[in-house]
Amino acid sequence: MPEQVPLDFLGDLRRTHSCGQLRASDAGSRSLLMGWVHRRRDLGGVIFIHLRDREGVTQLVFHSDEAFSAVHEKAGILRSEFVIAVEGRVVLRDADTINPDIPSGEVEIVVEKLWILNESKTPPFPMEDSVDVSEDARLKYRYVDLRRPRMQRNIMLRSKLSFAIREVLYGQGFLEIETPFMTKSTPEGARDFLVPSRLSPGEFYALPQSPQIFKQLLNFQIVRCFRDEDLRADRQPEFTQIDLEMSFPQQETIFATIEPLLERVCEVAGFGSVKAPFPRLTYAQAMRSYGIDKPDLRLPPFYCVEDLFPVDENFATPGLPLAAIVIPNVGPIARRERDEIKAFGVERGLRVFDDLKRLDRDFPEVMVQVRERAGVGENDLLILAGWVGEGKGPLPDHTVLQAAGQLRLYCGQKFNDRHKLLDPTDFRFVWVVDFPMFEWNDEDERWVAAHHPFTSVHDEDIEKLTSDPARCRAKSYDIVLNGTELGSGSIRIHRRDQQTAVFSALGLSMEEAQNKFGFLLEALEYGAPPHGGIALGLDRLVMILAGEKSLRDVIPFPKTAKGTDLMCEAPSEVPEKNLRDLYLKSVPPGKR
Ligand code: AMO
Repeated sequence: MPEQVPLDFLGDLRRTHSCGQLRASDAGSRSLLMGWVHRRRDLGGVIFIHLRDREGVTQLVFHSDEAFSAVHEKAGILRSEFVIAVEGRVVLRDADTINPDIPSGEVEIVVEKLWILNESKTPPFPMEDSVDVSEDARLKYRYVDLRRPRMQRNIMLRSKLSFAIREVLYGQGFLEIETPFMTKSTPEGARDFLVPSRLSPGEFYALPQSPQIFKQLLNFQIVRCFRDEDLRADRQPEFTQIDLEMSFPQQETIFATIEPLLERVCEVAGFGSVKAPFPRLTYAQAMRSYGIDKPDLRLPPFYCVEDLFPVDENFATPGLPLAAIVIPNVGPIARRERDEIKAFGVERGLRVFDDLKRLDRDFPEVMVQVRERAGVGENDLLILAGWVGEGKGPLPDHTVLQAAGQLRLYCGQKFNDRHKLLDPTDFRFVWVVDFPMFEWNDEDERWVAAHHPFTSVHDEDIEKLTSDPARCRAKSYDIVLNGTELGSGSIRIHRRDQQTAVFSALGLSMEEAQNKFGFLLEALEYGAPPHGGIALGLDRLVMILAGEKSLRDVIPFPKTAKGTDLMCEAPSEVPEKNLRDLYLKSVPPGKR
């Protein structure tokens, strides 16, 4: 390659078409295209280039005949990812050279003029999805990664879905209103990201973990949220919520808003067969049938069968659940697989009864009833899991149900490859309702809000606020998709007296409540209507509809599991002076 690539100016050049647009009917016309050199084949007398932009690919031909020799020579220096403009004639390809894999494959452009608008270093990895590239390299060179087909597809899908969401909500009369990012710290579960204030020394803003309080005063938005928590594949420190709030709603009103929204979003993503209404489960039912508050309905529920067996504490602890887990169509399984299932359950404290032949012998009638209740078919795998010994924690039945739920998912995933139980394009939404209002926090030894402290209590449970917090149900709901919590919301408290009662049940003194939420308490005194809302995680929604397993594949510039941005190398140190301006001193770990 010559050391100095002669670069041209864009001047007043204008595109006539995108790289995905030309068809056989354009043959004979002239075209000016711009884009990136995707692939290049130099056959000596003729050079073929695939020119790419986000709309597609078009084949360019550079002939070396006398009339085109200068442009052919210039094309000789083109390399991957050079940015060029070309002008030429659109011609039909010979029948045997038609490329059925690209929409413009019936034509090519015989190039008469070539402008090189920028060169490119050799890209760190090729633009093809088929090439396996480490995630670190993809994140460091994200501007290159974002040109690859998979990321283009995901990011465009994300944009299309955001548009569809706005369209549906505007259509329903919602107003889109932004709320501040520099705000006051509120307890929402995770740690806040803090922003020191230069003008108020020693004081901090917090970035919102969700726009919760502000949205209670206002309406809908697609908004960025910030949480300083340990990251997982479905958690990012900055993520996007679709947040909405309504006046005078019942729970049904919220569902009637969200269900058509999700139907439309699925349709835009190419899954028009997803139809509301979505099934509903109470939290108690979800725990009893799935052992989790975000059930994956692609697998059947388990069935509690402890009532069918005679009480015998050597067999299973009386009063605690005994779950019959069924995985359909598994057929015979190997001894090794059976041992692995048992080991997984035992690690979680379960007693896994793997020898069903023995149970059939010892309890023949009971086992018929078990199979009947659980609907076990001929080829299905049946696993019985219970508990022996003391129950654990304040809610021992939940400990058993949760472990059984994990075992159910483990088996579902284990046999998925063989039996396609967890089809990623089978979208099974479910509402989980009536969550408990409080959860016991072992560390702080106190009740904390299971959703958040602005959630209202079921009218008939108000008295349990102080007398029986464990049994106090909240008017809160989650929308779950294939085992992922997609969104969460509640009917809020709109009266100051009820809000103070909940704060006091949470052990918050009036003074603390006033200090933390004074403005909300005051707002409730100025004609706050009954209101309620929900927040859906946009990133999670796009992730599942795009068939991806990590949020990083649907966020243009995500953070790694350690919270770093490998491209811009954030977080980074800042000059001492910047810290002084903010009245801060940095104390590295170990020197505190
Ligand atoms: P919640 O905390 O349940 O509720 O959040 C609602 C939804 O936001 C998404 N989400 C996340 N997505 C990616 N990374 C994260 N770290 C992350 N954390 C949450 C999830 C989740 O279901 N203010 C309440 C909502 C309300 O009551 O209206 C709230 O934020 O999809």
